[in-house]
Amino acid sequence: MSAPAPAIVVDRLRINVRGTTRDIVDDISFEIAPGEVLGLVGESGSGKTTVGLALLGHARRGVQIAGGSVRLGDVNVLALNEGELAHLRGRLISYVPQDPAAALNPALRIGTQLREILEAHNFGANAEARRERVYEMMREVALPDNNAYLSRYPHELSGGQQQRVGLAIAFACRPRVIVLDEPTTGLDVTTPPRMAWRRCTSAMTWRSLARWRRASRSCTPAGSWSWGRCWTCSRPRPIRTRSD
Ligand SMILES: Nc1ncnc2c1ncn2[C@@H]1O[C@H](COP(=O)(O)OP(=O)(O)OP(=O)(O)O)[C@@H](O)[C@H]1O
Ligand SMILES: [Mg+2]
Repeated sequence: MSAPAPAIVVDRLRINVRGTTRDIVDDISFEIAPGEVLGLVGESGSGKTTVGLALLGHARRGVQIAGGSVRLGDVNVLALNEGELAHLRGRLISYVPQDPAAALNPALRIGTQLREILEAHNFGANAEARRERVYEMMREVALPDNNAYLSRYPHELSGGQQQRVGLAIAFACRPRVIVLDEPTTGLDVTTPPRMAWRRCTSAMTWRSLARWRRASRSCTPAGSWSWGRCWTCSRPRPIRTRSD
């Protein structure tokens, strides 16, 4: 039987400071098979976040993607316009920042924020299916799945609970690929949010190989959790960047 096609393929990616020839990331190539977890390991400032964002076709202000390609299945990400990218993000690929709580809108109830991402991507057959998905997302990140809780604003939740809501939003539309930027810094990776990570192809960034190894090991409990696959199928693979 032939191997499944990679979920994402990055080929000769080059990212530099806009208006200069100064490379931040030079000639990076990798691919991730479905269900596999890839660790992007590098010291602070080596370009992990820059690469992670480029997987969604995004470059921060002052930075430009100068060459190479990112293919998500048969989609050529770097050839898409902003409208097409907005359609892609959250639906096919999601990004979880170091502090996912920071991505929440303080003025909106958490239930509204969860529903909005589903509506934006037309997820589910109808409003009832989306309502059910909101409850399911809450259970996936081990938060209460009732309307009273969903009516709360972010400031009425603890920091860890806010992070879980941020994670739920990233997973809402069951994206094919998820980018987790330094997940141990702000995220509790040993408790039930891991449920939501299951079956998902991921790229995770880590500052050191030791931390990636530690996380991989500590997150390989009994059972079918995909971290186990990460340990066996996707051994720590440091990616060379400009500062290596
Ligand atoms: N707008 C910008 N203009 C110029 N240089 C930038 C800009 N944004 C980022 N950089 C540089 O790009 C490099 C990579 O930044 P990036 O945030 O990707 O690093 P990182 O590996 O994620 O670091 P950390 O582990 O600290 O999060 C850094 O050296 C940074 O100074
Ligand atoms: Mg970073």
